[in-house]
This record gives sequence, C-alpha cells and structure tokens, in this order.
Amino acid sequence: MFNTIIGKDISVAKNFLDQGDIVGIPTETVYGLAANALNEDAVLKIFSAKNRPHFDPLIVHTHSKDAIKNYVEDIPFLAEKLIDAFMPGPVTVLLKKKNIISDLVTSGLDTVAIRIPNHTLTLELLKQLDFPLAAPSANPFGYISPTTSHHVYDQLQGRIPYILDGGPTDVGVESTIIGFENGESVVYRVGGLAIEEIENLIGKVQLNLNESSNPKSPGMLKSHYAPRKNLRIREFEDLITEKQKGNIGVIAFDEYVDVIELKNQILLSPKRDLNEAAKNLFAAMRKLDASDVEKIIAVKFPEVGLGRAINDRLKRASS
Ligand code: TXA
Ligand code: MG
Repeated sequence: MFNTIIGKDISVAKNFLDQGDIVGIPTETVYGLAANALNEDAVLKIFSAKNRPHFDPLIVHTHSKDAIKNYVEDIPFLAEKLIDAFMPGPVTVLLKKKNIISDLVTSGLDTVAIRIPNHTLTLELLKQLDFPLAAPSANPFGYISPTTSHHVYDQLQGRIPYILDGGPTDVGVESTIIGFENGESVVYRVGGLAIEEIENLIGKVQLNLNESSNPKSPGMLKSHYAPRKNLRIREFEDLITEKQKGNIGVIAFDEYVDVIELKNQILLSPKRDLNEAAKNLFAAMRKLDASDVEKIIAVKFPEVGLGRAINDRLKRASS
C-alpha cells in the first residue's frame, strides 16, 4: 500500500519511475498509469494495479520522432506524414517493434503502439527520463478513463505512490489508433484526432473498429469505458418515455428536456462544439454514476469530428 500523493513535481515523478514504480501522468487525452516501458517488473505493476488482462497491450509514450526510431524497425511513409503533422497530439501509431520492446508491453504482437502526448509536464518528464513510458489509461480495467488527477486518485489511491497533476485534460477521449499494412492505413480506435483530419492529410483510411475480438487491437472490447450504472443511448425524442420508467440521468449535447429535473441533466456543450463535448464526456459519466439516478441515458451525437469518438465510447459503455 502507498500513501498516494497528488503533486506537480516532475522530479518526484521521475524518482519513482527511475525506481521502477508506477505513476499517474497527465496527457492531453486522458490520464495514464505510467511505468518504465523497458523494465518488465515495472510494467507488470501496471497490469496488477489496473487488474488489466495480459492480452491487452500497452501504448509506449515518448517525446520525439527521433526517440520513436529507437523502438521501431522502420517508419513507413504514411506513418511519417502523420507523425510530422500530428505529434505531439492525440494519435497513436502501430509500428513494427524492435526487440528492446518486450512482448509483455505488446502482448506478443510484433507491433508496438507509440505516441507523443501533447502535455507540457509530461513531455518535460519524458525528456528527462532515460526510457519511454508504457501507459494505459489510469482507471481500473473496463471503467471510465480519468480526465482529472482526482479521478485517478478516487480509484487508484493506495495502489500508486504519486499522481502528477496537470489539470483537467484538454481533449477528453483517448488517442486515435492507426496502423499500416501494405501501404494502407487502418484505424482501430476512433479517438481524439478526427478521422477527417487524418483523411485530409493521407487520403481515405479504413476503419476496423471490431467490437469483440479484434486480433489487431485486442483491447477494443465491446464492453469498455463503462459506468457501474446501466447506460443506454437514445434519440432526444425518446427521453420523455424513458423518464416515465424511472429516475434517469441524461447526458446530452446542447439541449435540456423539460420533463426531467435539471440537476440530473448534463449538457456536454451548450454551444454545440463537439471538441468541448468530448472534453466533458467522461466527467459527466462519472458524475451521474455517483449520483442517485437509477439509469443513465445518453443522447446520440452527430457522427462527425470527435462526435464519432463520443458515440463509440457511449456505445461501449452501454454494452
Ligand atoms: O490517449 C491514450 O491513448 C491514452 C493515454 C494515457 O495515452 N492511453 C490509452 O491506453 O488509452 P489504453 O491502454 O487504455 O488503450 C490502448 C489501446 C488498447 O485498446 C490496446 O489494445 C491498443 O491500444 N493497443 C496497444 N498496443 C497495440 C498494438 N500493438 N496493436 C494493436 N492495438 C494495440
Ligand atoms: Mg483504457
């Protein structure tokens, strides 16, 4: 057991990581639970603190394109374009791993997921460390990802020594994951970088968001990111009927429904901005999960920009 501390001190985080301990770190997407990616004992601590199954591989975080080259065999042309345009940023690329990356990190796959997080504190930390950081989202396996240091604390206190506090995360949903096969790009998880932005740069991409057993992205389970309460996705017009069935909480885009108490409704973006909605999504799910409503109803979002990632997370949360 640890006496978990929340602080803003990079050198404290560095000391724990140097010793092979795990630390909560901020990124622009969600908070991560980080360990030295080149130290198997340290990486094992991530799996046990999260109760994460070993078949679910981890993302390796580093600070620069040059650093990425230490961990991968080569960088295909399309990946290079994405790295140059969007990193640091909310995107993860799958590349052929070098032997220095252990099978424990990749769950035996020959690719490693790599990203450069766009957060000043964490980028500085990564520059000071002699190794990259393996980090999944800092939540117990299957639950909603954390977007503040307090979300991390609420669920992992006692299991980790330190949480580096970088404020609430900017993007609010996990990175978009993209791999490259025979000159084609395939998106395995929609996330913080909109598909439209990727397609503007490299042309059409394939989507492979397989719901249950996706051999390429084993962690993309059908049920994930879930609150403890039952969550359902409905059209706005259905809320009135839902209300008659019990005490419900609502997550909506920009409009309240008359018949439900305001305190049980959360608007993710009154000004209809999908980026702002994504940023507020997970905190809203946590808030209603902790409230006295019996059931959570989310209204479907427009399927464009970050709306895709929002709908994807809601769908998994409702499975
Ligand atoms: O935004 C993010 O990506 C956050 C922050 C902390 O960086 N991290 C995150 O990690 O969401 P995690 O572990 O919750 O999700 C990583 C996903 C999993 O679904 C996993 O299966 C997939 O990445 N993944 C990791 N390595 C892979 C690989 N080599 N091939 C395919 N999928 C991989
Ligand atoms: Mg996760």
